[in-house]
Amino acid sequence: MMKLLQLTDIHLTAPGQLIDGHDPIANFDRALAQALTDHADAEALFLTGDLSDLGAAADYARLRDRLADLPLPVHLLIGNHDHRDVFLDCFPECEGDGGFVQHVVPLSLGHGITLDTWGPDSHAGHFCETRAAWLAEQLERLPGPVWIFQHHNPVPMNIPPMDGIMLLDAERYGAVLAPHRDKIAHIFFGHCHLPLSGSFHGIPFSAPRGTNQAGWADFSGSDLYATSDLPPAYSVIFARPDSTMVHMVEFGYDGAVRRSA
Ligand SMILES: [Fe+2]
Repeated sequence: MMKLLQLTDIHLTAPGQLIDGHDPIANFDRALAQALTDHADAEALFLTGDLSDLGAAADYARLRDRLADLPLPVHLLIGNHDHRDVFLDCFPECEGDGGFVQHVVPLSLGHGITLDTWGPDSHAGHFCETRAAWLAEQLERLPGPVWIFQHHNPVPMNIPPMDGIMLLDAERYGAVLAPHRDKIAHIFFGHCHLPLSGSFHGIPFSAPRGTNQAGWADFSGSDLYATSDLPPAYSVIFARPDSTMVHMVEFGYDGAVRRSA
């Protein structure tokens, strides 16, 4: 059995600055501390983008400090709130093929692939021909199973403001994945700040709420983003050669937990 952790949309910002009434630094610290205590046997941690709220160098430096002494490998991805060049100035080792923040990660039961869906001057996700060719090459050569990590959702949520900033090149992305669906165990993403699950070309996907601000599933058709005070969360992933189980752990919940025989 292989255990992985996914934290997403940490949105680090200046100390003391709240986002939607919540403190991203305090929440990230709480999430990290709880995840590492409760899941000391996890073999890797994936941070799936929106590492900084404003793509600021100080936030990346703050993140680098916090990750310096962790007892497990951490794999960083960028999201729409990040700035690729500023991020890579602070984390030069994260630059992958073609200058993208994309990598193949060996795991005990197969491989992880981290994708870069960032694009300039846009909150939407991008997956250009260059990235498509790179991913196709990896999927061709890897034996599987493969667990894919990315920031943007490839499937619309049916919530208008979010659907305008989903992965815009989902058709191109799907064309790359579809021939290899048998070796792709799961797709993990963030971006939506809502717990989601479903499938894309027959490949299961999931997303946790995020470690700070929480969304609200508003199906009214409004063009406004809806947020809430639901507890922040991260994902714990239990993978076996033929199965993947994903828990969304609401670490920010401060209420009672009752146990009974
Ligand atoms: Fe976000």
